[in-house]
Amino acid sequence: MATDLKIRNASIFSLLLFLSFLLGSSSAATDHDLRITNAERRIDLSSHIIKVFLTLKVENKGTSPTSEVILAFPPAQIDHLALLKAAVSGGKKKKKTYTSLDVNPKLPDGPNGTKYFSVTLLNPLKANEAVTLEILYILTKSLEPFPSEISQSESQLVYYRDSAIILSPYHIEQQATFIRTASTKVESYTNVEPTNRSGLELKYGPYVDQPPHSFSPIIVHFENNNPFVVIEDLVREVEISHWGSVQVREQYTLSHAGARLKGAFSRVDYQSKPSVSGVASFKQLLARLPPRVNSVYYRDEIGNISTSHLRLDLKKSELEIEPRYPLFGGWRATFVIGYRVPLEDFLYESTDGKQRYLNFTFGCPMAETVVNKLTIKVALPEGSKNPTVVAPFTLEQHLETTYSYLDIMGRTVVVLEKKNVVPEHNSPFQVYYDFNPAFMLVEPLILVSIFVLFFLACIAYLHGDISIQKHKTP
Ligand SMILES: *[C@@H]1O[C@H](CO)[C@@H](O)[C@H](O)[C@H]1NC(C)=O
Ligand SMILES: *[C@@H]1O[C@H](CO)[C@@H](O)[C@H](O)[C@H]1NC(C)=O
Ligand SMILES: *[C@@H]1O[C@H](CO)[C@@H](O)[C@H](O)[C@H]1NC(C)=O
Ligand SMILES: *[C@@H]1O[C@H](CO)[C@@H](O)[C@H](O)[C@H]1NC(C)=O
Repeated sequence: MATDLKIRNASIFSLLLFLSFLLGSSSAATDHDLRITNAERRIDLSSHIIKVFLTLKVENKGTSPTSEVILAFPPAQIDHLALLKAAVSGGKKKKKTYTSLDVNPKLPDGPNGTKYFSVTLLNPLKANEAVTLEILYILTKSLEPFPSEISQSESQLVYYRDSAIILSPYHIEQQATFIRTASTKVESYTNVEPTNRSGLELKYGPYVDQPPHSFSPIIVHFENNNPFVVIEDLVREVEISHWGSVQVREQYTLSHAGARLKGAFSRVDYQSKPSVSGVASFKQLLARLPPRVNSVYYRDEIGNISTSHLRLDLKKSELEIEPRYPLFGGWRATFVIGYRVPLEDFLYESTDGKQRYLNFTFGCPMAETVVNKLTIKVALPEGSKNPTVVAPFTLEQHLETTYSYLDIMGRTVVVLEKKNVVPEHNSPFQVYYDFNPAFMLVEPLILVSIFVLFFLACIAYLHGDISIQKHKTP
C-alpha cells in the first residue's frame, strides 16, 4: 500500500493518507513488539487504602523505537483508582535515581473492557533495549467487609479481589505477586499454583510466559481492623488577609466505611473491655497541620469539643481529636476544625514580581483517610484579579464571589474540587493572582471614615444636646 501511494505521488491528500497509515501501523506494532521480561507486584492491604507497587522490566523486541508503554487495569478497578504514577529508575543499586513520567488514559479500551493508560518514556526505547519502570497505584474502597455486619466485639473480615496474573497488553516472561495482609489471620485465599503463604505475606507465582491479557481471578479473605476512615465530604475554606494571616476552616463529614455494627452499642462494654470491645471501631484522629498554627478550634453543631490535644514543633503541628463517640461501621460524625497560620509562611511574590501567590497543601490533613469529595475554597483579598491555579494533578475549578465585613466589591473565591483523594495527594498547589496594593488602603479608609462619621455624629449630638439645654435654662 505504501508503494502504491508513492506512485500516485505529490498530492497532499495522499501524503496525509500515507502519514496516517504510518502512525496507525507504528502504534499498532509497538503493542506486540514490547515484552515484559520481568514483573514484580507488591500489593499492600494493611490499611483500607491499597497501595500497589509494580516493577516492570520492558524490552523492545521489535525493530522500530517506541516511547509508549501501556498499563492495563480491569474495569472493576478503574472506579477505585485514586492515583497512578510511573517513574523510570536509573543508576546503580546504591545511587538509584527516579524520574517521573507522564501517564495518560488511552482509548480505545481493550478486550473485556480493559482500561489502558499510556506511559510516555523520556527517550524512545530502541530495538533490543530495556527499561525498568516503577509504577505506584492506589485503590480505595476495594476491600469488601464480609460479613457485612458484625457485633461490637467482633473483628472485621474483608475480601480483596484481583488477578493472580498481572493484566497487561504484553507478553510477560517472568512474574510474581506479593500480597501483604493486615493480619496473619487469613480465612481463605484462592490457590493458583504456585501459591505460598507465610506470616503476613501471600505469594503468587512465579509464573512464566503469560500471553497478553491473561487474567486469573483470586479472592483473599482476611482480618483487617484498621480504621476505615472515609471523609464523605470535606470543605476547606482558606481566606487570605493581607493583614497578616491565613484563616482556615475545615468542615468534615466523617464515616466508618467498614462492616456495619449489628445490634446495640454498649458503652459499658466498650469502656470496661477496651481490648476486645470495638476492635473494628475508631475514636481518635490525627490531623497534621502546618507549623506555627494558632487560634485552633474544634467543634460540632453542639459546641466546642474539649477532647483534643495540640502538639506544636518547628516542622509541623499535630492535632489529635476525638469525636464525641467512637465510630463503628456505618456511623457518621460531622465537625469543624479551624486555625490561623502566619501569612508569610504561605504567601509569596512571583519571580517576576508582578503577582502574588498562595502556596498551600492540597489534600486532607487527617492521616490515613480517603476523601470522597474534597473542595478547597481560596478566598483572595478584595481587589485581586486573574487568579490562576498550578497543581500537580487535574482539578475541577471555578470562581465564586463572597462578601465579608467591610467588603465592597466582594472577594474572588477560587473553588477547587477533586474526588477520591488519598494522603498521596497532599502536595503543594499554588494560586497566583494580580493584586493592586492600593486596595489594602480601602478597608482602613472605610474604618477611618466610619470613625470620623461617628465622631462627627457625637459632636452633632452633643451640640444638639447643649442647644436643647440652652433653650430650657433661660
Ligand atoms: C473475556 O472474558 C471471558 C469471560 O470472563 C473470558 O473467557 C475471555 O477469555 C476474556 N477475553 C479476553 C481477551 O481476555
Ligand atoms: C513457602 O515459603 C516458605 C517461607 O518463605 C518456604 O520455606 C517454603 O519452602 C515455601 N514453600 C513453597 C512450596 O514454595
Ligand atoms: C469555644 O472555643 C473558643 C476558642 O477555644 C472560644 O473562644 C469560645 O468561647 C468557645 N465557645 C464555647 C461556646 O465554649
Ligand atoms: C511551596 O511550598 C513547598 C513546601 O511546603 C515548597 O517545597 C515548594 O517549593 C513551594 N512552591 C513554590 C512554587 O513556592
